[in-house]
Amino acid sequence: MAQLKDKVALVTGAASGIGRGIALKFAQEGAKVGVLDLGLEPCQKVVDEIKQTGAEAVALAADIRQESAVTKAVNNLREQFGLISVLVNNAAIMPTGAVHETSLEDFENCIGVNLRGTYLVSKAVIPQMLEAKKGSIIHMASGTGILGLPGLAIYSATKGALIALTRAMSTDYARQGIRVNSVSPGTIDTPMLAKFLNEQSQPDYYRKLFDEMHPLGRVGRIDEVANVFVFLASDQASFVTGANYTVDGGLTVKGEQPQDD
Ligand SMILES: NC(=O)c1ccc[n+]([C@@H]2O[C@H](COP(=O)([O-])OP(=O)(O)OC[C@H]3O[C@@H](n4cnc5c(N)ncnc54)[C@H](O)[C@@H]3O)[C@@H](O)[C@H]2O)c1
Repeated sequence: MAQLKDKVALVTGAASGIGRGIALKFAQEGAKVGVLDLGLEPCQKVVDEIKQTGAEAVALAADIRQESAVTKAVNNLREQFGLISVLVNNAAIMPTGAVHETSLEDFENCIGVNLRGTYLVSKAVIPQMLEAKKGSIIHMASGTGILGLPGLAIYSATKGALIALTRAMSTDYARQGIRVNSVSPGTIDTPMLAKFLNEQSQPDYYRKLFDEMHPLGRVGRIDEVANVFVFLASDQASFVTGANYTVDGGLTVKGEQPQDD
């Protein structure tokens, strides 16, 4: 049975990578989906893919840093499909470097998309969930919000903040029937990973390092992350709130033993 029948879901950053995978899987599971990203055309491509399967979706172009654009997109989705019941805050950017290697602009942009954007979209959607007295909000965090990984200082700070935001929001809205969880993937095979690898001097070497870093011996797939979002969005997860689900092939629980040479 379709797990998300009668749900209206908004997925940010849904024109590519994991967000696109989540939007497609949500539609497959019966949800009506708002596909939000920066440009209308890439959103429309995903919407067309969804519609080809007979499911319903709408393209919503917005920069999530801009409050008026977010409000417009959220109102538009409600007008098309009714009250929003699932929100996936997935859109993010990932500047690289240790703190002294990054610019203030990198910092402002990353906080702007990953935190301010998540805040603004949540703020715009929550009144609809309060009206319905139910909802599921899922923030896309990351293993970098838990572990210290080199070269990802600003990005990691935003992801750690999202895990804290999840805990706080779950407490604030529990009695209103709104569940709030986060998902922390390990490295996933996406355009974001490809971009990161291309910026390195030896992309193949780094790809192998990423594979070996995960106890399961490989990076994850988009559908393996999307499956967990389906669960958290669905009524199957009715007693799950305030949780941070790691989907990381064991990365964040891995210990190290001293090695003999
Ligand atoms: N790829 C990985 O290995 C990995 C690992 C852990 C967590 N994540 C997280 O998963 C999410 C998706 O990552 P991905 O690899 O699919 O990345 P991606 O770059 O393919 O997708 C991110 C999307 O967000 C959109 N976006 C960026 N700024 C925006 C803005 N201001 N307004 C609206 N949309 C905006 C982009 O246009 C893009 O389509 C991110 O939150 C990322 O941090 C990814």
